[in-house]
Amino acid sequence: MPAATVTQLLKDQKTDPELISVINVITACCQEIAEQLRLGALTGILGATVETNVQGETQKQLDVIANDILKEKLLALPLIAGIASEEEDLPVAGNKDGRFLVLFDPLDGSSNIDVNVSVGTIFSILEVPEGCHGGEEKAYLQSGRKQLAAGYALYGPAATLTLSTGKGVQQFSLDNQGSFLLTQAEMSIPQDTKEFAINMSNQRFWQPQMQAYIGELVAGKDGSRGKNFNMRWIASMVADVHRVLTRGGIFTYPWDNRDADKPGKLRLMYEGNPMSFLVEQAGGLATTCFGNILDIQPQKIHQRVSVALGSKNEIEVLLQAHQTAA
Ligand code: AHG
Ligand code: MN
Ligand code: MN
Ligand code: MN
Repeated sequence: MPAATVTQLLKDQKTDPELISVINVITACCQEIAEQLRLGALTGILGATVETNVQGETQKQLDVIANDILKEKLLALPLIAGIASEEEDLPVAGNKDGRFLVLFDPLDGSSNIDVNVSVGTIFSILEVPEGCHGGEEKAYLQSGRKQLAAGYALYGPAATLTLSTGKGVQQFSLDNQGSFLLTQAEMSIPQDTKEFAINMSNQRFWQPQMQAYIGELVAGKDGSRGKNFNMRWIASMVADVHRVLTRGGIFTYPWDNRDADKPGKLRLMYEGNPMSFLVEQAGGLATTCFGNILDIQPQKIHQRVSVALGSKNEIEVLLQAHQTAA
């Protein structure tokens, strides 16, 4: 039997047909973004723009192109009440009778585009609350537990789609006819690991508990852990989290004291929540180091968050380290 498409799998899972329609539009966008990325320098779309986004980052041309693809296709769907994006200052209203809100990081890891390293698209789907419309920020300020679906496309050696509607995590791979086909029916994160991902160049800015915890991983067999750890850092959250979902490990971008206005780098609504949803669905843990990311009541659409996620037993060691007084 041929591998299931995203639609077939979601139908088999008895997913709400309207939610399937939204996911289908998102996967079509990801296919289009994959195609743009594949051609890269041939179409002259690498490199930066002169614009700065609301996050204070210089936008790449492909940040804008990916954002426009998702924005245009989603807002054309009557089911969509509104969208929010890392690259948009404010949420954008869709149909006033729409049911769904889609939040996205159109291109994650965009510093890697110009060096031809994997990047991705991350998305999260919420239902619009009664009495709210999709142009107002408060409609989106729902905890990650309320996500109806979350996922990401990874544009790597193969383009893949990792998706959850709360019934485990499935992985699909893009074939050369432009369809995502099921290649892994149940992703499950091994509970133990010897691999960690963190940007070590920020070490001096971390909180003391994180310094102590990572210090023990680096000390390996010579420290209290009694085993050696290996380190990986791709600098595309999608690719680092994909590795964790595939073979275990932990990924963290913790609080740091570089900038009082931005104690964390990653965005709760476009990165923290969708990735935490997938990780919990695959049997892992996702925390700020002081509480579950999915339990946070968001205060702002572009809110930042400290993220540590991955193999359950290792995240528990990290949490234990954070219960120690600084
Ligand atoms: P984005 O490209 O969407 O702005 O996200 C970048 C994020 C994330 O993908 C990655 O884990 C992290 O930034 C890397 O940050 P450093 O360059 O500080 O390591
Ligand atoms: Mn960015
Ligand atoms: Mn990102
Ligand atoms: Mn991005």
